[in-house]
Amino acid sequence: MKITDNIKYVGVYDTKIDLFESQYQVPFGVTYNSYVILDDKTAVLDTVSTDFFDEWIKNVKDELCGRSPDYLIVHHMEPDHSANIARFIDVFPDVRVVSSAKAFAMMKNFFGKDLAVGGITVKDGDKLSLGSHTLTFIAAPMVHWPEVMVSYEESTKTLFSADGFGTFGKNELTDNWADEARRYYIGIVGKYGAQVQSLLKKASMLDISRICSLHGPILTENIEYYVSLYDTWSSYKYEEEGVLIAYTSVYGNTKAAALLLDAELRALGVKTAIYDLSRADMSKAISDAFKYSAIALATTTYNADIFPPMRTFIHGLCERNFSSRKVGIIENGSWAPMANKVIRGLLDGCRNLTFAESCVKINSALSEENKTEIKNLAKELS
Ligand code: FEO
Repeated sequence: MKITDNIKYVGVYDTKIDLFESQYQVPFGVTYNSYVILDDKTAVLDTVSTDFFDEWIKNVKDELCGRSPDYLIVHHMEPDHSANIARFIDVFPDVRVVSSAKAFAMMKNFFGKDLAVGGITVKDGDKLSLGSHTLTFIAAPMVHWPEVMVSYEESTKTLFSADGFGTFGKNELTDNWADEARRYYIGIVGKYGAQVQSLLKKASMLDISRICSLHGPILTENIEYYVSLYDTWSSYKYEEEGVLIAYTSVYGNTKAAALLLDAELRALGVKTAIYDLSRADMSKAISDAFKYSAIALATTTYNADIFPPMRTFIHGLCERNFSSRKVGIIENGSWAPMANKVIRGLLDGCRNLTFAESCVKINSALSEENKTEIKNLAKELS
């Protein structure tokens, strides 16, 4: 597939994968993107996941039209992109691998070979000329592993962004790019906002007209829009005013409270999203918690703790530096309700959370008093 006259797409589309990284549901699959640059010298940019070697190497050979690759650029060593490095070298023994020092150390661990010998180790700011194309390497540690670098090709104003700006699904732009890209970003890189901010600062010095990431579509228009979303996500600001309601419910009473809160909020004109954490895609619930300005957590007391999916959800927020949001709590307990206390304890390390004063304490089933409390909570969160 042609990206420019001399930059070609040679990636693959994995539609068989059940869970990305063994945890993220990907109903529309995921792509492992790889690129070829044809110039006086030729470069292949990243490989693909292990099962796709045959399809990928055919794509590469088709684009090379009989030429041998001079360089294999390795931006990121996670195996969805790096698994075929050793096999590629078996096919093209004269190729020189170009990567960061940390990546070469990882190659030794993965493949048992020191590929830095005969390769080219690059650091932040180094350039590699292919002829009319020149790649400038930019260190991007923890976006998403420590060895990551991205590269900028000057003549075409193309940023090869590694995992950055990636998303699940095919490599065609769809209307839900932001939802899936947020789910991907928050799930995979969300913990490393400071490092993403640092990369965005470096990227702001570049004139970018095209972003080629390692997953999903190539971005060619409204680059500012995508960069601005990444700025919002990585600085932990909310994207929209609204409330994410996450609940767990064993016999339906806590669910009734969550649904009532949802109705009260909507009556106030507040946008909501509501998730039954026992049944929902956890990564979507976590992603929406970062999207909206407030969250409401409704859960049962369970073994003197909280119901397990709620604990998993809150852990998912905390490990991704959830911060600067309003929080409402609805607790339920038939003899010793303590979910409120447990939730507050779990969220204790999150910065700049504002807890609603309206406390909803359900003893088994919604009382008339609870209904008034929920109405008050809705007003506070709106
Ligand atoms: Fe798509 Fe961090 O690998």
